[in-house]
Amino acid sequence: MNVHGVPYRTIRLAGDGWSVEIIDQTTLPHRFELHRLATLEQAAQAIKTMQVRGAPLIGATAAYGMALAVRSNPSDESLDAAARALGQTRPTAVNLAWALDLMLRALRPLAVSKRVAAAYAKAVEIAEDDVETCRAIGQHGVALLRQAAELKPGEPVQVLTHCNAGWLATVDFGTALSPVYQAFDAGIPIHVWVDETRPRNQGAALTAWELGAHGVPHTVIADSAGGHLMQRGAVDLCITGTDRTTRTGDVCNKIGTYQKALAAKDNGIPFYVAVPHSSIDWSLTDGIADIPIEERDATEVTHVTGRASDGEVVTILIGSPGSPAANFAFDVTPRRLVTGLITERGICPASEAGLLSLYPERATVSSPP
Ligand code: MRU
Repeated sequence: MNVHGVPYRTIRLAGDGWSVEIIDQTTLPHRFELHRLATLEQAAQAIKTMQVRGAPLIGATAAYGMALAVRSNPSDESLDAAARALGQTRPTAVNLAWALDLMLRALRPLAVSKRVAAAYAKAVEIAEDDVETCRAIGQHGVALLRQAAELKPGEPVQVLTHCNAGWLATVDFGTALSPVYQAFDAGIPIHVWVDETRPRNQGAALTAWELGAHGVPHTVIADSAGGHLMQRGAVDLCITGTDRTTRTGDVCNKIGTYQKALAAKDNGIPFYVAVPHSSIDWSLTDGIADIPIEERDATEVTHVTGRASDGEVVTILIGSPGSPAANFAFDVTPRRLVTGLITERGICPASEAGLLSLYPERATVSSPP
């Protein structure tokens, strides 16, 4: 996607051909800054501190992190240690384990002398796969927005989304926002309700920033406003992303997604989830019981970061000093609340049969990635 008219991806090989350039998402929307990763440790740190975030982008960064590790030491021990270090950075998005597994499978059988070139080639392949996957999700999802537009000629289709599942969460195009961008570019009138997405405000900071940069009409709302808007008929459909979806169609996504799905169900509003193949955990059947939910530092709840009136970016305490806080980063929306899954292969019901109709090669239950 373009930033100030210049095409960018969230991650790419730097001009030197070996280090990795990322968009630093911790400084957005106040400053657009690129950051260079030159070591495994820097890649792991970038994932941990959420300079890169969003399930597909975490996977792509882990793949490049493996390439950086192999460049400095291509031995078996180094490969395994790098996969362990990267694998421990964040627990919920399955894309991380998926990408590490692909890298290990590609590299382990090779002679040590062949591993550096192969690691970079595989990392680039994983990133390119994400770009094409997200593009295809948009192509399938745009049909839903076209149908919604036909039901209300001359009025914008009203989409509600949660967190950031736009191009910043992926290598390019996004998952939930890919259909939105394709609809906008095709001239379908559209408006997006953007949940601010406490505590880290990925909606207010990142989704709003990228929609604004592309010119898509949008409005940031408090996380608790969605149900009210749905009761007033101001939402035609919800589309969110996912960090891990089970083979049975349970959807784990940013905390607060479940409440939106409940409100959508109560109001008869379609609730779709955009799911790249890399976010499906074929080894799990029960999302609530089995998906590890990341708990992050409580200061993300008690403090907020923003730009003060003098232009300075500051972090301030918003809670009562000393009150304990808890920071659950994700929740699980059971499949019964999900209208459909928008994948790169098409749209299917949120169920094992639905997913297997698109991915028949997964009929045999697989072990965890
Ligand atoms: O904690 P984050 O920002 O890495 O959260 C992940 C997300 O961006 C969302 O949950 C998103 O909807 C799924 S990733 C496309």
